Amino acid sequence: MPNLKVEKILDDPELYIIRVDDDRIKYFEATWDIPEGITYNSYLLKLDGAVVLFDVSKEEYTELFMEGLRKVVDPREITHIVTHHTEPDHTGALPAVLEANGYRAQLIGTTFAKRFLEGFYGEKVVENFHTINDGEEMKIGGKTFRFITVPWLHWPDTMITYVVEDKLLFSCDAGGGYGIPRSIDDSDEEIVEEYLPHVTKYIVTVIGHYHKYIVQNIKKLKSLGVVEEARMILPGHGLIWKKDPMRIFEHYERVGAGTPTKDKVLVIYDSMYGFVERRMKIIIDELRKHGKKPVIYRFTDKETPAVSDILGDVPDSEAIIIGASTYEAEIHPRIRYTLYEIVDKANYEKPVLIVGAFGWAGVAGKKIETLITRSKFDHVDTVESRGMPRPEDEEKLREGVRKLITWLS
Ligand code: FEO
Repeated sequence: MPNLKVEKILDDPELYIIRVDDDRIKYFEATWDIPEGITYNSYLLKLDGAVVLFDVSKEEYTELFMEGLRKVVDPREITHIVTHHTEPDHTGALPAVLEANGYRAQLIGTTFAKRFLEGFYGEKVVENFHTINDGEEMKIGGKTFRFITVPWLHWPDTMITYVVEDKLLFSCDAGGGYGIPRSIDDSDEEIVEEYLPHVTKYIVTVIGHYHKYIVQNIKKLKSLGVVEEARMILPGHGLIWKKDPMRIFEHYERVGAGTPTKDKVLVIYDSMYGFVERRMKIIIDELRKHGKKPVIYRFTDKETPAVSDILGDVPDSEAIIIGASTYEAEIHPRIRYTLYEIVDKANYEKPVLIVGAFGWAGVAGKKIETLITRSKFDHVDTVESRGMPRPEDEEKLREGVRKLITWLS
């Protein structure tokens, strides 16, 4: 059952988190398998003469969110609502919040945010809306709120808020991840270690299409000094970063840049009747002989891995090996879809080796080659043949791996 966490984070200024833990969700954005669930984080800051709410929650959990909000404030006392990003996982409960607030609060966001909110929830929601410009500062409750736009991280509407005097960085999606961490912050290293792979998966699936903007926007925040200076980073999903605030953006930078983990090679294949699998066993054996550590995903008549998990393993792999059957003069459908998403969401300059098996005509290898050569990935070799791998095929497969190793060295 979805759970509610309401905790005080700071005494001075008085800051609370209202966190809805969504363990009911199965497919984020109706696409990405997340058995690990997700949290929707909203924050409430009580200042002298002002009460500021940062983002809200998903519509489905409006009642639960309102219960949490009422534990820390009478909604009528909220003076400002900052909307960093309008995707409905952070704004779905907004109409109910405004209703309970009597439409007293001023909404703050970008021009895009105003336009999107009006489209999602109607004109009334944006009647009292202040549109910010990049870098604009506002005095609220005696504090300086600096609003910084971070477009395409991951929507055009996206911005973050830096509360200058208290060095608090409210970052919404940026700095977030999947999963329902057992704590609200990064103070327990074991929890952080468990959580970071969910962050990578989140970055690739949700922000990956625009991953070059991750690096650009973090560079922008660093040049403004707010990342190094922040005492706390408060994202819209997952853990709050206060023990080591820099760590989450460093992680984002590594994923954005596709920084590899030494010797990790991602191996993805389908095998309908074992012909591709026999080839991949040779490939994996050769990889291990060279000290490589293959991470393997296979689509067979017994198993179907989640594409979201595969995507999460792309950024820190040194190389990728794709094995595919030819299926109705095409790439096997599962591999076709997986590749489509890899090229779209996790498009990095990494070497790729292609392995194919076919019955009457080899098509998959060529088609994958075309996809790869049009992407940022580098095509190393294609080894494709009919049915059972013969000794000469085995030699070509091993040679393909050796070419890949040379490429990496
Ligand atoms: Fe968490 Fe892009 O919404």
